Amino acid sequence: MLEHPILFLSGKGGVGKTTVAAAHALGAAEAGRRVLLVSTDPAHSLGDALGTELGGEPAPVTAGLDAVEIDPEAECARYIERVKGNIRATVRSTLIAEAERQIDMAGRSPGAYEAALFDRIVALLLDEARPGEPGGYDQVVFDTAPTGHTVRLLTLPELMGAWVDGLLHRRGAHNRDRAQWLGDGEVPEDPVYELLNERRRRIAAVRDRLLDRERSAFVFVLTPEHLPIEETRRAVAELAEHRLYVAGLIVNKVLPEAADGAFLAQRRAAEAEHLAAIERHFAALPRRYIALRGADVRSLDDLRAIAAQLRAPA
Ligand SMILES: Nc1ncnc2c1ncn2[C@@H]1O[C@H](COP(=O)(O)OP(=O)(O)OP(=O)(O)O)[C@@H](O)[C@H]1O
Ligand SMILES: [Mg+2]
Repeated sequence: MLEHPILFLSGKGGVGKTTVAAAHALGAAEAGRRVLLVSTDPAHSLGDALGTELGGEPAPVTAGLDAVEIDPEAECARYIERVKGNIRATVRSTLIAEAERQIDMAGRSPGAYEAALFDRIVALLLDEARPGEPGGYDQVVFDTAPTGHTVRLLTLPELMGAWVDGLLHRRGAHNRDRAQWLGDGEVPEDPVYELLNERRRRIAAVRDRLLDRERSAFVFVLTPEHLPIEETRRAVAELAEHRLYVAGLIVNKVLPEAADGAFLAQRRAAEAEHLAAIERHFAALPRRYIALRGADVRSLDDLRAIAAQLRAPA
């Protein structure tokens, strides 16, 4: 279930997506495959997990393994600059200042961030990484942000496809009108139309790859806990609705068979170090400590028990 050339690891926050993505990619690279590991999570802990500094361009981690952390802020800025460049080439000079003002505003609107991130993913898949193609990576592994975000991102090909289609339609009608006005009926060459057409072609190409069960798959990481299970159920159903292929699940943080007193002592020792680090890093901030419970938090009474610990410093 982890073999597809395009592999998305998804799941609720904190279940171990980054850890599993890094572990799988390292294993695959050490088995002789060329792997690109991509983090699309703006919180970027992939570099931390691999113990190395990563940037916005693929860079080598070990033999066979490259990694990149897509920075949506930077991608958004780059995207806006690209749009401005296109506009400068196609808009009358008296309109450029106003057009750029509009574009800057659009760049701060909801969705711009996702659109920019999506654009970068499109470029990675079609131009740079070309997973499963000759000369490309054998596999591209995406370590994604928590579930909802990814599903929205992957439905963008549909949304953007429909949006670009609408623009193309209007631009085409406009060009035909103009041709009639000019009298000769010849539809003029139009760089905007060409640009939109190219965009539609790329969106369709990515969409085909993502919907191709041979090429692309989702694997969900979850922990055996109430909330991750519920969120994963919803996400699996939502992906199915969009005809995206879910290849399997990775259940992480399962108590080992031999979880006895020695295991607990080991966990406690590891925890003691981390608790000390928390005190060191956050000495200036007040803190409350809540005990790990024997079972999941599922009832109001469970929440009340936690509320008591929030009120009473340990
Ligand atoms: N099997 C495991 N045993 C012990 N600790 C683990 C295990 N898997 C992950 N962890 C730890 O759990 C924490 C969360 O893991 P990780 O960052 O991989 O989750 P994530 O799903 O990527 O989180 P986010 O949603 O914030 O991106 C990390 O500190 C990691 O080291
Ligand atoms: Mg992560």
